[in-house]
Amino acid sequence: MGGCCERAGYNRMFGARFSRHLARRYRRRGLDRTATRMVEFLSDHGVAGATVLEIGGGVGAIQLELLRRGAARATNLELADSYDADAAVLAAEAGVADRISRRQVDLARSPEAVEQHDIVVLHRVVCCYPDHEKLLTAAADHAARLLVFSHPPRNPLVRSITAVENLWFRVRGIAFRTYAHDPAAMTAAARRPHLVVTYRHRGMSWHIVGLSSPAA
Ligand SMILES: C[S@@+](CC[C@H](N)C(=O)[O-])C[C@H]1O[C@@H](n2cnc3c(N)ncnc32)[C@H](O)[C@@H]1O
Repeated sequence: MGGCCERAGYNRMFGARFSRHLARRYRRRGLDRTATRMVEFLSDHGVAGATVLEIGGGVGAIQLELLRRGAARATNLELADSYDADAAVLAAEAGVADRISRRQVDLARSPEAVEQHDIVVLHRVVCCYPDHEKLLTAAADHAARLLVFSHPPRNPLVRSITAVENLWFRVRGIAFRTYAHDPAAMTAAARRPHLVVTYRHRGMSWHIVGLSSPAA
């Protein structure tokens, strides 16, 4: 997939219904447990005054929490535009609408289109993108201080589920695919001299990798 076809694939997969579901869930229950851990990791390293780049942020729940905790501003990058209305309402409700900008940019393809931020976040995103190396390389290159991402474990169960899901998509003529990428390769793509792995969480459904400066 490429360009507008790619966006159409993501819009079809992550449409208005999915967006409404995320917004409703966030209003009722706040962040999911994995996102909460990711925000705690970032908060432990200091978010006050920081700029946040959230890649594939959906309705923007994580950035809302970081802005509440003192981050200066957030940029949300998405391939789908179906979240924009719900995201705008949530941001207005939180009183931070003027501190968020939403852009449709694929950082892996257009790294030069976005400036560096202090913090870069990807929650439940790498498993929706075919080229994990390119995406995480671009993410790390844009992270001045902190990078955190979640991904599904690459165990036999997840690999089987991924294979069945992708077969289902193929049969239904849907171009979207999910991926159980190699965790070691993802971490290798994210490492930089100023970003070393200082946090790991291995949950049943989601693993988290947090990278910060070696001294932090
Ligand atoms: C499963 S949703 C997760 C949304 C949100 N992070 C959450 O956890 O609720 C994955 C999202 O990643 C987005 N995505 C995948 N690859 C992307 C990329 N290269 N750049 C921006 N967004 C991307 C998709 O459009 C989709 O909205």
